[in-house]
Amino acid sequence: MVSFSNRAIHLLAFLTLLPSLTLSATSSPLLALAPTLDCLKGVPHRGTPQGKNVTIAGVNTYVAEPPKGHDEGPKKVIFFFSDVFSAVWINNMLIQDYFATQGYHVLGLDYFFGDPIQNHTDFDLVPFDPDFDFDEWIAKSRQQAAAALPSWIDAVRRRYGQNARYHTAGYCFGAKYVMEISTTDQVVAGSFSHPFELTEDHFNQIKKPLLMNCAERDASFPAPNLYRAVDILTSRNASYHTQIYSGTQHGFATRANLSDENAAWAAADAAKSIIRWFDRFQPLIHPIRSTHTCHPLDPRTFPFLGPRASGAWPIVLDHLWLSSKYTTKIGTKVVYLGRNLSAFKQRCPTLLTAQKIVVTRDSLGPRVYRGHPLGTSGKASSGAS
Ligand SMILES: *[C@@H]1O[C@H](CO)[C@@H](O)[C@H](O)[C@H]1NC(C)=O
Ligand SMILES: *[C@@H]1O[C@H](CO)[C@@H](O)[C@H](O)[C@H]1NC(C)=O
Ligand SMILES: *[C@@H]1O[C@H](CO)[C@@H](O)[C@H](O)[C@H]1NC(C)=O
Ligand SMILES: *[C@@H]1O[C@H](CO)[C@@H](O)[C@H](O)[C@H]1NC(C)=O
Ligand SMILES: *[C@@H]1O[C@H](CO)[C@@H](O)[C@H](O)[C@H]1NC(C)=O
Repeated sequence: MVSFSNRAIHLLAFLTLLPSLTLSATSSPLLALAPTLDCLKGVPHRGTPQGKNVTIAGVNTYVAEPPKGHDEGPKKVIFFFSDVFSAVWINNMLIQDYFATQGYHVLGLDYFFGDPIQNHTDFDLVPFDPDFDFDEWIAKSRQQAAAALPSWIDAVRRRYGQNARYHTAGYCFGAKYVMEISTTDQVVAGSFSHPFELTEDHFNQIKKPLLMNCAERDASFPAPNLYRAVDILTSRNASYHTQIYSGTQHGFATRANLSDENAAWAAADAAKSIIRWFDRFQPLIHPIRSTHTCHPLDPRTFPFLGPRASGAWPIVLDHLWLSSKYTTKIGTKVVYLGRNLSAFKQRCPTLLTAQKIVVTRDSLGPRVYRGHPLGTSGKASSGAS
């Protein structure tokens, strides 16, 4: 009988060989390196998934849909590329559910086809199967994922249509697919968290805005490599944002110990920041509604905007986000003009300094996604006098 500790050692010994084993021939150096044991560590979360398993292009897919009233206008879709625990693992289903509550249709394919890492190891890094070969499992999973993805993405795009707006969020194993799809016009924006196996070319070729959520300690994406990635993006004038969460390690965005304040905060903030990032790239598309009048913002209604809000600029609410309940709550105290800024300027010439501010609700109350807390450029913002 093989003892558990021997099995753990077997896996450890095996993993130390990985950097030399997993590199397939490539002309471009790796920036995010091979997976390590940290890819297998973490804490499972508790909760009741709200989504459904649906077969799309022959692949089991977790589908989380937004609540009614949050999906008007062009549909917003997220391709969710999971870590090695799969999109149908509890932690990942709960993250997808959260994205759905923010107005997105979220689809996570099970590119492990029912054979995720937890079929072979436990969080204490003990492989159940003494012959488990992590490298082989990664290679097999990469092959399956690469084979399944093109038709799966096509099928999702057919399901939501040409007018939907597509985004992608990936973690660990899934980061590579974020980078690959972000070289195409199939998505509006992307985000990865604690990646492995990304090359310089991934950063050289990316065409879409990229949010990078990074751990402070990450053997798969050490700080010098992240800085190199940022250098490449900067030299290309790419649109990106990167953040490093102190006190975190690889896996923090999906497998945080929620009893640990720092870990819990980082994981929650990483998820929220992905939504803020995607929200930022929604277009101005809806014509003005005729029945609204222009008047300055009442700071009592929006105390969270701070003192600068007081008459300094008008607030333009994205009416797509407003359920009738919410509209009632804010009453008529705000300028509510839809998304067409040029029509707005014609209608409200005194409010020429208007900037787009999108307000939405969540369980903590309204939240500002895009505003100008430092005022406007050019003349002092006194337009709303
Ligand atoms: C989806 O399928 C996975 C794997 O079979 C299962 O673990 C999960 O609970 C299912 N989720 C739902 C919402 O049915
Ligand atoms: C993985 O584990 C699940 C749950 O024990 C099981 O239903 C499934 O058949 C396993 N998959 C493989 C490929 O062994
Ligand atoms: C990036 O922007 C700078 C300043 O606008 C410009 O000089 C440079 O050519 C741009 N580089 C690329 C690769 O587009
Ligand atoms: C999670 O964090 C709490 C508080 O720091 C700690 O007591 C607990 O042992 C941690 N759990 C795991 C599985 O690391
Ligand atoms: C925005 O408003 C302007 C001025 O009223 C109008 O010419 C334009 O067609 C509108 N754009 C959209 C996308 O509705």
